[in-house]
Formats: sequence, C-alpha cells, structure tokens
Amino acid sequence: MANDWATFGADLHLEPHGHGQGLREGLMNALRDAVRSGRLAAGTRLPSSRSLAVDLGVARNTVADAYAELVAEGWLTARQGSGTRVAQRSAPRRPGSRAAASRRAGPGRGGRPGGAVESVTAPPAGKPTYNLSPGTPDLASFPRADWLKASRKALMGAPDEAFGYGDPRGRIELRTVLAEYLARARGVYARPERIVLCSGFVHGLMLMGQVLRARGVREVAVESYGLDVHWDLLGRAGLKMPALPFDEQGTRTEELGAREVMGPGVGAVLLTPAHQFPTGGALQPDRRAVAVDWARAAGGLLLEDDYDGEFRYDRQPVGALQGLDPDRVVYLGTASKSLAPGLRIAWMVLPEQLVGEVLAQKGTVDWVSSAPDQLTFAEFLASGAYDRHVRAMRLRYRRRRDQLVAAVAARSPGTRISGIAAGLHAVLELPEGTEESVLRAAAFQGLALLGINRFRHPTVPRTRDALVVGYGTPSDSAWSGALEALCRVLP
Ligand SMILES: Cc1ncc(COP(=O)(O)O)c(C=O)c1O
Repeated sequence: MANDWATFGADLHLEPHGHGQGLREGLMNALRDAVRSGRLAAGTRLPSSRSLAVDLGVARNTVADAYAELVAEGWLTARQGSGTRVAQRSAPRRPGSRAAASRRAGPGRGGRPGGAVESVTAPPAGKPTYNLSPGTPDLASFPRADWLKASRKALMGAPDEAFGYGDPRGRIELRTVLAEYLARARGVYARPERIVLCSGFVHGLMLMGQVLRARGVREVAVESYGLDVHWDLLGRAGLKMPALPFDEQGTRTEELGAREVMGPGVGAVLLTPAHQFPTGGALQPDRRAVAVDWARAAGGLLLEDDYDGEFRYDRQPVGALQGLDPDRVVYLGTASKSLAPGLRIAWMVLPEQLVGEVLAQKGTVDWVSSAPDQLTFAEFLASGAYDRHVRAMRLRYRRRRDQLVAAVAARSPGTRISGIAAGLHAVLELPEGTEESVLRAAAFQGLALLGINRFRHPTVPRTRDALVVGYGTPSDSAWSGALEALCRVLP
C-alpha cells in the first residue's frame, strides 16, 4: 500500500537533525517538509511513535511530542483506532490565527466558506485531493476484465482487412450492433448505414459544424448553459451561437420561431434533451415537439447530445429526441460517460441525406478511432457486457446520488438540490453572491469543484449561484472523503 509506513520509511529519507529539544524540532521540520512537498500524501498513516522512535534511535517521547504538536498545528490528525495521519487539509496554523480559531470550532463549521476563505489568501497549489467536478465517470470502475475478454475475442475473430484502412463510417460490425442497441435502449431510429463513428462527441460536433457551414448556415442556437469547448468548436467552423432563453422548465425551444430573439440565420440547434448539461432537467415533451416543428418548418436541424442518456434513476427512461423525426435530428452519442472518455468512441446517427456530407468533411485522412477498439466495443455490446456494466454503474451512481442528497439534507438543510433524476451530476443552489467564495473554500479543502456560472453562455445574464457537483467522478474509495469535503464548504 502506498500509504503505509513501509513506503514512508523507504521513500521519505526522513533525516531529523539536532539534539534534545532540537531533535524534536528537527523531526517536526522533516515531517512538515515531507507533507508540504507532497511526499506524504493527505491521509497517509504514520508509524506509531514507538516504532518511529526505534527507527530513528530517539526517545519515544520525542516522537510523541512532535506528533502532538503537528496535530495541534493542523498538519496531522490523531484518532483513536486510526492512528496518526497526514491531515486532509494539511496547512500550517499560526497560533491565534482566524484559521486556527475556525478549525477549533470543529468539522462542518470550521470549513465553512466564510471562515476558511477569510483566513486564506490563496488556495494551496497542486493536484486537489478530491474531485467533484462534472464531466467524468468513475474511471476506477472501468470494466477492465470484460473489456480485455471482448478485445481478445474480437481480435482473434477479426478478418485481416480489419487491420487496414477501413470504411470512414467505421467498422460495420460496430455500426450494426450499435443500431440494434440504440433502437432498443434509447428509442433511436438507427440503421447501420446512417451511423458514422467518431472520436468523441466533440469530433462529431466539429464535423457537424463544418457540414452546416458548408450548407450556408450561419448560426447554431445553443442552450443558455453548456460547455464552452463545444461553443468553441462551432465558433471555429465560422458559426455564431445565439443562446436560447431558459426558465425553470429548461430550454425555451418555443423561442426558436421568434425572429427577434433568434434572428433569421439560425439553421440548427444544439440540445441536451435527456439531461440538460449542466442544469440537469429533461426537455419537456411539449418543448421537444416545438423544437421538431421548428426544424420541419424552417428546414433546420436539431443536434441531440445524448451524452449520459443511459443514466436515469427515478423515472422511465426518457427516449431520444431523434425518434420524433430521424430526418431532422442528428443524434450524437458517446461512450465517454457510460465507459470512459479515454476510449474516444462516439457515434452519430444521421438523417440519410447528411451521411455523404459528413463523410465529405471527414475526408480521406480522418479514420476515427482504431479498428481493433471498434471491434472490441462491438463485441462488448453484442455479448451483453455493456448492458451489464451500465446497469451496475447506474446502481452505483444512484447510491451516490442518494448519499449526496441525504448528506446535504443533514448538513446543509437550506441547500436545494436539483437535476438528480438522471446523469452523473447534481446542482446545489447557493445563496446569492456566494458561488466564488464556496469554490475558493473548496479549493482550500483540496476539493475540485465547479460553479454553474462557469457554464453560462456569455450573453446570458447571471441569475443564480450554484454548484455543479459531479458525483460520478471520484473512485469508490475517494467518494466519502469527497462528500465530507463538500459538506464542509456548504453554507
Ligand atoms: C454535455 C456533454 N456532452 C458530451 C460530452 C462527451 O464528450 P466526448 O464524447 O467528446 O468525450 C461531455 C463530456 O464531458 C459532456 O459534458
């Protein structure tokens, strides 16, 4: 184990200098240096004072006193039964400082944004200990063994031509099983010849941006909240991105027809209908219908980002918008949430007339993700391993979501949570004007966290303060620590 004393002793080269009283100081300095430099990570269990004393050839009291003082300073923690450990938030505490006072108030109060932020001028640099930023699934849960099994089977059965330059739409084996899966699980009208594989949703969006521009489209409407990387991609294709207005029900698609809001140049709309990113609601049936009506009437296209469509907890699955009109909706799906973003496997289900245009934009040098990976994913889907993995992850994320809701209710009863019926993140409303201070307090706790205003379209006025909590991101082992750190910074 990385955190036990064997590693510590071997890697740390702890060399306290001095005699008597000085020896204790020397030991404290050596330990502080080891923590400060990151050689001793937060949570690392230190050896007992007895064994460290033997190891260093000093009196046991010298070590015990040094530990006690470092605990008092906030570098270490000591708990009955779990020994002495490097504190999660190991920072020097000057006697009498406000930080010291607020920490003395105890966990859950000392870490409050006000207290922590007032006493700290800059958050500690370096990699955060916990990560609750949205956008990534639990990478530690990647189904390595099943993936390996699928890979072995796929490679052994692959024809020689699979290792050559292939069809720019992607392997037919994968497009065939994907068509079946998407129809079954997401209500997508999918046929293999309408599917084009791409290297992540971003790749598909980039291609669609180029296709739309080549068609003479000048504007793609986007939601009031979203990802700036997506807006950048469309911008690079030469498109403008007016934001659709937003209310408590979500994106107001009815404004698409209002020229004074949208202008005449809008030829397509980018939407996250299953689970709006990041605000979290599903696009209401009437607003779906209105969007499709607009596309039919205006000859426009709807770009459906179904990034986490598999993860729905409380209600019947919300089917894909694409099922309403496969000739007006470009469906974009990805394995980035359901499996892992590192795979770079995603798919577009296109209106028939667009397939040629998308392939023309891909050109002859863009061969998407590797054929062996595509074949592996095809086998993974066909064998049922994908369904099993998604079901297991749904349970796991649902459990975390429930724990998040319960912890917030207990520790910060005034905090409202929304967007929890689906996906891997939730939105926690904050009192007006407190988002930045809570984020700074989180950073100081070693917790990576993002606020909703980070995702606000530049033309949309600021109307709320909130956290976007990615509860899917931590590994199981880091989850409870991350949740505790979050609770400490909530008002
Ligand atoms: C809203 C949204 N769409 C799509 C994606 C997936 O992107 P990709 O498939 O390029 O990894 C993400 C990933 O964070 C996302 O947040």
